[in-house]
Amino acid sequence: MRPVYPMTDKLEFRDRMLSLGLARVAEQAALASAQMIGRGNEEAADQAAVNAMRKQLNLLDIDGIVVIGEGERDEAPMLYIGESVGTGKGPSVDIALDPLEGTTLTAKDMPNALTVIAMGPRGSILHAPDVYMHKLAVGPEYSDGVISFSMAPGEQVEALAADRGCQTSDITVCILERPRHAEMIADVRATGAAIRLITDGDVAGVMHCADAETTGIDMYMGIGGAPEGVLAAAALKCMGGQILGRLVFRNDAERHRAVHLGIHDFDRIYTRDDMIANDVIFAATGVTNGSLLPGIKRELGWLTTQTLLMRSKTGSVRRMEYRSSIELSP
Ligand code: FBP
Repeated sequence: MRPVYPMTDKLEFRDRMLSLGLARVAEQAALASAQMIGRGNEEAADQAAVNAMRKQLNLLDIDGIVVIGEGERDEAPMLYIGESVGTGKGPSVDIALDPLEGTTLTAKDMPNALTVIAMGPRGSILHAPDVYMHKLAVGPEYSDGVISFSMAPGEQVEALAADRGCQTSDITVCILERPRHAEMIADVRATGAAIRLITDGDVAGVMHCADAETTGIDMYMGIGGAPEGVLAAAALKCMGGQILGRLVFRNDAERHRAVHLGIHDFDRIYTRDDMIANDVIFAATGVTNGSLLPGIKRELGWLTTQTLLMRSKTGSVRRMEYRSSIELSP
C-alpha cells in the first residue's frame, strides 16, 4: 500500500525541481524506441517507449496519477488512465503522456514522431476520454478569441489574416490528411491559404503554431485524438497560443467513456486553460527528425536525443541534448 503523506508545503508542486526528472522520462522513452525507427512495427515501437516511460516515472518522487494515458486499464496493461506512478513520496500530480506520439511515423521513419509528457498539480489536467476532438489552434501573436468554432474553416482563415493584417494567401494551415477533412480542406483552399498536410502527429501539428517563424505554420485545425488535444494544450500553456477543443463522439460507447470520466456536457468547448487549469511542465523528445525537434542521432556506440522542456509558470523553454552510450541505454 502507498503511504499517505500529509499536505504540507514540502509537497507543493515544485515544478522547477520536477522538470529535469520529467525530461529524463521523455528522453528514455525516445531512446527505447530508437531501435524500432523504420522497422515497420508500430506496436513494438510503442511498447518499448511505454515500458521505458513507466520505469522512469516510477523513479520520480511523486504521487502521480496518469490522467491521459494509453487507454483504459483493460485495454492498456501499462500507463493506463488511473494508474499510479512514482514512488508515492512527493507531491500529488496529474500526468498526461503519449510515450510515442506518431507510432506509424516511427515505424516508417517519417518526420515529427515525439515522446510527450506533461505534469501538473492533482486535479489540474482534463481527464479526456480516448475519443476524437475537434481542435483549432493559433500561436501567441493573435488577439484573444480571434477564431471560433462558429466560423467555417474559410472564415477562420480570413479572421486570422485580418487580425495579422495580411492576405489569406499568406496563411498556412496544418491539417491531418484524412477523408473526414475533405470539406475543410476545400474550404481553406478556396481562401488561397496554403495547407501543410500531415499524415500523423497532431501534437506537433498544434505546437508548430506557437513557433510560426520556424515552422511556417500559422494555424492548426481538424479532428484528431482528444488525449493529444490535452497534451497540445499543455504545450501551448508553456509556449503561448490559443487552442479550442470540442469532443467528437462516434457512438454511445464513446459517450459512456466520457460520462465515466465525469463529462456530461458533450458539446462543451474547452479552452486551453479549461484543459490545463494550473501550472504545467511539458517535455517532448524528438524520435524522428521534425521541424520542432531533431530526431535521435545514431553514431557508432552512441545515441543522442534532443528534448524540449518547458514550464508554464515562467514560460521557460529549454532544449537539452543528451548523449547516451548504446550499451547503457535501456
Ligand atoms: P498514434 O501515435 O497513437 O498512432 O497517434 C497518431 C495520431 O496521428 C495523433 O497525432 C492524432 O491525434 C491521431 O493519431 C489521429 O487519429 P486517426 O489516425 O484515427 O485519424
